[in-house]
Amino acid sequence: MNDNECVEFLQWALPQMRMRWPGFRKVRRQVCRRITGRLEELNFAGLSHYKTCLADHPEEWKKLDSFCHISISRFYRDKNVFLFLQDVVLKELAKKAETNRLRCWCSGCAAGEESYTLSLLWHHVLKPCFSAIDLEIIATDSIDTMLNRALKGHYAKSSIKELPEELLEAGFNHQNKEYILKSQYRDSVRFIKQDVRKKMPGGPFNIIFCRYLVFTYFDEKLQAELLEKILSRLAPGGALVLGKIDHLPCKTEKLKPWSKQDHIYRKVC
Ligand SMILES: C[S@@+](CC[C@H](N)C(=O)[O-])C[C@H]1O[C@@H](n2cnc3c(N)ncnc32)[C@H](O)[C@@H]1O
Repeated sequence: MNDNECVEFLQWALPQMRMRWPGFRKVRRQVCRRITGRLEELNFAGLSHYKTCLADHPEEWKKLDSFCHISISRFYRDKNVFLFLQDVVLKELAKKAETNRLRCWCSGCAAGEESYTLSLLWHHVLKPCFSAIDLEIIATDSIDTMLNRALKGHYAKSSIKELPEELLEAGFNHQNKEYILKSQYRDSVRFIKQDVRKKMPGGPFNIIFCRYLVFTYFDEKLQAELLEKILSRLAPGGALVLGKIDHLPCKTEKLKPWSKQDHIYRKVC
């Protein structure tokens, strides 16, 4: 299967799984490699056999869906987003907190990079100024292997290379080429297996991260449906953080930009 054939196949198959081709354009090789592996496993000469298989065996669509999960992530991804969260969002939410707890949900958490970055920022940088407030982080993903890696908390250099030196030193022990996250930064993160299309954790949350998942890979109608559910879990005044390539699928009065360039929105009270 060459690239053109795979692209044509994905453009045909993705909309049937409520996904969108533009989200996959740059990462398609990963998906195409997995499909090639499946064709070899099934002893199929090409994609036409696979299309027939999908028609005859609807359960194969689940397999194909699993090939379309992209798990790229890293600590401190999009540095300016975390700087804005640290300097503006978290401080303001902590100052205005009505209880002694802030709640955050990271959807599509991969191996925990995003949720642990937030935990590091909170405990190492902000907690000394807001000692009475706890930050509870719930992180969800649909893939067991990602969640198991998150629970282990061991990372390669490529995952932590964007972290500022201070956070790296505070947060990790370095052993045998691996960076091992210290337990005090893991304890406030709870990982749950959930497919965001079917289930979401109960709100209200003060911050929801939805980066490089719903608004990257899913079709616009599904995006709009999930946005409604996400917003119902966001507390008034809370922050919704999207990825740098993500856009809201429709206009909504419920959100105002908090930092336009960082794709961070605030829920209107
Ligand atoms: C590209 S990564 C983004 C990770 C992180 N949010 C970030 O921005 O660095 C997308 C993650 O979403 C997960 N994912 C994909 N489809 C999902 C679904 N339907 N429900 C929950 N998680 C999903 C993948 O397993 C992967 O870990």
